[in-house]
Parts: sequence; structure tokens; C-alpha cells
Amino acid sequence: MCVLDLRCIGISRLASRKPASPPVFLQCLHEHKTKKVTLLHPISEFEKAHSKAESMSNSILVTGGAGFIGSNFVLQWIENVATPLVNLDLLTYAGNPANLATLEDDSRYRLVRGDICDAEFVAAVLRDNRPRAIVHFAAESHVDRSIADPSDFIRTNVLGTFTLLEQAKLYWSGMDEAARRAFRFLHVSTDEVYGSLGWDEAAFSESTAYAPNSPYAASKAASDHLVRAYFHTYGFPVLTTNCSNNYGPFQFPEKLVPLIILNALERKPLPVYGDGSNVRDWLFVEDHCLAIRTVLERGRVGETYNIGGNSERKNLEVVTSICNLVDEFCPDDGSGPRKDLIKFVADRPGHDRRYAIDAAKISQELGWRPSVEFESGLRKTVAWYLEHRSWVQSVRSGAYMDWIRQNYEERVQP
Ligand code: NAD
Ligand code: DAU
Repeated sequence: MCVLDLRCIGISRLASRKPASPPVFLQCLHEHKTKKVTLLHPISEFEKAHSKAESMSNSILVTGGAGFIGSNFVLQWIENVATPLVNLDLLTYAGNPANLATLEDDSRYRLVRGDICDAEFVAAVLRDNRPRAIVHFAAESHVDRSIADPSDFIRTNVLGTFTLLEQAKLYWSGMDEAARRAFRFLHVSTDEVYGSLGWDEAAFSESTAYAPNSPYAASKAASDHLVRAYFHTYGFPVLTTNCSNNYGPFQFPEKLVPLIILNALERKPLPVYGDGSNVRDWLFVEDHCLAIRTVLERGRVGETYNIGGNSERKNLEVVTSICNLVDEFCPDDGSGPRKDLIKFVADRPGHDRRYAIDAAKISQELGWRPSVEFESGLRKTVAWYLEHRSWVQSVRSGAYMDWIRQNYEERVQP
């Protein structure tokens, strides 16, 4: 039995975001123009027609708002800002509308199901909702999946961003002068575009040369370049943010932090790639969302802003901290400390050694800095996963288990 005292660990606000009862996950194939994408829920013609029929003018349009960072952003936005928000999301394996179930009856929120690669669909969403800004999260985001098969990453991250940019530019061109001046397209990107740092090298700044190493990082770098080109060539009013590793509620349990929390809880092996000495900089997701809002409001058009947590940690330290927290919340039943479950497995091919962010620009120009210390953010995160077992169950579909088998079975071979 877990001993979780929410008052004592201060997560009452997070805990109050109760996802609805798990949706029925239907495995189906939805035919797209360019390829077949596996979706957890089919898009009905009714859904498409219905979402196109109504208008939410003067809203913002978010893409990928049912994913990890997107969900946190949408919840934070609706809680703090009056402007309505339209969420365009394909609901791939990584998108979960149940994350936003608390907004079902909120007239300022709408989910529109569709693909950023579908130009006609994107044009219709823009025409019908008349947003004053776009915040672009939608992407394939998991590095290991990009190594196993890069094609979805090129399609969504490169072709999808291009399609969105092109349709957004057309929409923007048709606005009146005042609306054009106020319009913003904020592209959410990653620190992985800068490549890998040595132990003593200075942290990534906005002028660090791009050197992406994984297919994921290369696809994000390509999208960043397209965004930059649309500003330079057409004067399209873009902003780009490059952020370090996020952690927090609603992260899909294929990524290190939630995977280790859940495996530790269930006393399964804890896979650490290589020797566990690779370093990442960790940022609590709500801090990232606030940084994006800050850049959207006050960032200089055409600029990029690096966002980081100032919390570099070796992977092994992160995994050990999670073990200690799970031990604390779910005391020993005689099976021993969770850190004994750590298993060093085959390394990720081309594994970037270290990421670190110099966030001086956003701090000096816009006054944003991270507010959540890594240790307290991790505590909140572990507590959230322990408190949201039904959410965990709902996202662990057959497709998820297939990925876990595919990624880990080979790694543990001698
Ligand atoms: P995620 O994988 O959790 O969510 C991605 C969302 O995009 C899902 O809701 C998915 O359904 C949607 N999506 C995917 N393909 C789509 C398509 N073709 N059309 C419409 N929607 C589609 O990703 P995340 O971790 O929340 O990351 C969000 C963004 O932030 C990504 O662009 C990622 O590169 C960037 N980023 C992530 C991190 C991190 O640590 N997770 C750090 C820095 C930057
Ligand atoms: O830096 C920002 C990036 O952070 C984002 O752009 C990506 O979308 C996001 O997925 C994340 O990428 P990483 O590859 O750093 O995250 P991940 O959680 O997959 O891995 C974190 C580190 O932990 C990395 O060094 C690999 C290691 N790892 C990961 C898994 C899944 C393990 O040791 N074992 C594992 O099982």
C-alpha cells in the first residue's frame, strides 16, 4: 500500500486534474494520403464536419495539444488566459484526449482531430477558427522510435511543419494590416538540434551551430530551418523555442522518467542505456509551458529562445532518485530497495553524451527563469504517476506493449 500524503508533498493542484475514466482504445488503421498511420481512435466524418462547422475567432491554435507538453500547456492556458484555444491533434499513440477531459464543458476549449500534413484540413481549421496565433507542438518526439523507423518523423516533423507553415502563411497574408502585425507562429523545438556536448564544453546558446545526431533531432532541425526561412523570405512572424528534457504529469511512459517510475513501482528491471553517465538538463513541464507563453507574449519576432532547467543530471542519478522516491512512497515489502532493479542495457546508437542549456537570453530579455527545483519536480511527478493508475492503464495499450518488447528485448541480449 502506497503512503502518499498529497498535502505534505504539495501536489494538490496537479492531483485535482483528474483524467476522465479511460477511453475505449480502438486499434484501427486510418488511410492517409501519403501513408497508413496507426491511430488509437478513428476520425469520424462527423467529428471532422462538426469541428469545421463552428468558429472560435480570436482564439489561439495549438497543434499536438493532446500530447505530454501540449496537454500541460492547454490546461495552464485555460486556467490563466481568457483567449479561447483550439487544439488540432491527430491523436496518434502519443496523444490522449483524456488528458484534457476536465475541459470538456469549457466553451473556451475545442479539440479538432486531424493531421498537420493535410493541407486542406489545416486551411479549413484556420479559416473556420480565425486564430491570432499558432503554437506548434505536434511532432513525433521519441528518439528511440526515430532510430527504429525514421519515416514518421520525416513525415510529421518536416512535411507536417512545412504544410502548417504554408497554410498559416496563406491565412496570415489574407489578414488586415493590424491583425497581420499581431499574428505569431511559435514553433516548439528541442535542444537536440545542437548535437552533443563534451564534459567541459559551454552550454548550448542560441548561436551554437546545429549538429543533430538522431533522425528525430535531424527532423526537428529541418523544421527549425523551415520556420527560420519563412521569416527571412516572407516576413512571416515566427518565434522558435529550443528546450531541454521535460518531465512531469501526462508524459507517455516510453520516456525515461515515467518508464522508470512505473517499472520501479511494479518491480520490473530498470533499463539504463550504456553506463548511465549521459547527461540531460531537466525542466519541469509547467515551467516550459510558462516560458512558451512568455515568448508568445513578449518574444521578438524572428528570434529563437533557448529554455532550460539549469538541472544537469546523469541518467543514473535520475534513475536512482526515482528509486528512492518510489521506496519512500511505497515502503519496502521485503523485496529490497528499488535501485537493485537497475539493469545496464545496450546503449542507444549515436547516444548524445550531454545536453546543457544557456538560458541567459530568455531570462535577460523576457524575465523567465525556471521556478521548480529538479528534486521537488521529480517528487511531484512520481506522486502524480502513483495517483493516476487508471491514466497509466489507459495509455498502455497493445501498441505500447509492442514497442516496449521491440525496444528492450534486443537490448538485454548478451
Ligand atoms: P508527444 O509525443 O507527447 O506529443 C505529440 C503530440 O503531437 C501528440 O498529441 C500527437 O497525437 C500529436 N501529433 C503527432 N503527429 C501529428 C500530426 N501529424 N498531426 C497532428 N498532431 C500530431 O510530444 P511532447 O513530448 O509533448 O513534445 C511536444 C513538442 O515539444 C515536440 O515538438 C517536441 O519535439 C518538443 N520538445 C519536447 C521535449 C520533451 O522533453 N518532451 C523537449 C523539448 C522539445
Ligand atoms: O532534450 C530534449 C528531448 O528530450 C526532446 O526533444 C525529446 O522529444 C524527448 O524525448 C527527450 O529526448 P531524450 O532522448 O533525451 O529522452 P528519453 O527520455 O528518451 O531519454 C533520456 C535519457 O535516458 C537518454 O540519455 C536515454 C536514456 N534512457 C532512455 C530510456 C527510454 C535510458 O537510459 N533508458 C531508457 O529506457
